[in-house]
Amino acid sequence: MATIETAQNRNRPIGVFDSGLGGLTALKEIRAILPEEDLVYFGDTGRVPYGSRSRETICRYAEQDMRFLLSESACKAVVVACGTVSANALEQLKRHYTVPIIGVIEPAVEAAVRSSKNGKIGVIATPSSIASGAYTRALLAQDQSLSVTSAACSLFVPLVENGFIDPDDPIPTLTAERYLAPIRDAGVDTLILGCTHYPLLKPIIQRVLPHVALIDTGMEAAHRLSILLKEEALSCDGNSCGKGTTQFFVSDEPQDFAQAAARFLGLHPNAQFPIVRRVNIEAY
Ligand code: DGL
Repeated sequence: MATIETAQNRNRPIGVFDSGLGGLTALKEIRAILPEEDLVYFGDTGRVPYGSRSRETICRYAEQDMRFLLSESACKAVVVACGTVSANALEQLKRHYTVPIIGVIEPAVEAAVRSSKNGKIGVIATPSSIASGAYTRALLAQDQSLSVTSAACSLFVPLVENGFIDPDDPIPTLTAERYLAPIRDAGVDTLILGCTHYPLLKPIIQRVLPHVALIDTGMEAAHRLSILLKEEALSCDGNSCGKGTTQFFVSDEPQDFAQAAARFLGLHPNAQFPIVRRVNIEAY
């Protein structure tokens, strides 16, 4: 029989955070596989991008994002839906908080190793994720004989944040061709989209690399979350919790976020987007 404490924990929402819109790709997957869970999303839209900042700044931002989710919503688990934070600050966050925290690197790396037939794996991510070496380390920890080719794609996040995601648009297409040339030349058969913004460019990336399996970090993290909730007896029991609500918080203009988020989540243009609240994240 569940203890009272376990039952109370089950009733709490799951926190998901990212520097901006990218984490919505993870949120969408979480919603699809855990429809009954209550979710709280924080997008640090006032301070995006994280991926060109120092590790010290990324760690400070990540601590504030965590404190916001834990103090305002008492989340039962947190998904760091950001490759940059996962690469630079995950260990620190895990040391500072007792709540289960899921990053995007490990689940993606495991999926990539399962997918690759020729042992040649590519990683694309933000400059600071690539500079951290976190993806390469995690891949080689799985299998030392892997050949890993990585590329920092600094322009992808601004393109996504500004809505340049149409597969027929020459601007993101030319950008992708430039960034992905070394990945193609290395003959990889599997590519980790190591930043949660990148799945929004998936059709473009797939067109440039038609025979390469693309690993979506948000999707893999969502699967890891559902396993962890079961293991920790934290899955919503469908009684007192589990209305499948999603609350959205951002650190800049809510209206801009709501419009872009509705598009990214694939909502009907006439669908009413939930209220997005603005947070003074520097206060946390
Ligand atoms: N979506 C994030 C990531 O996965 C961060 C992008 C950024 O803020 O630079 O790395």
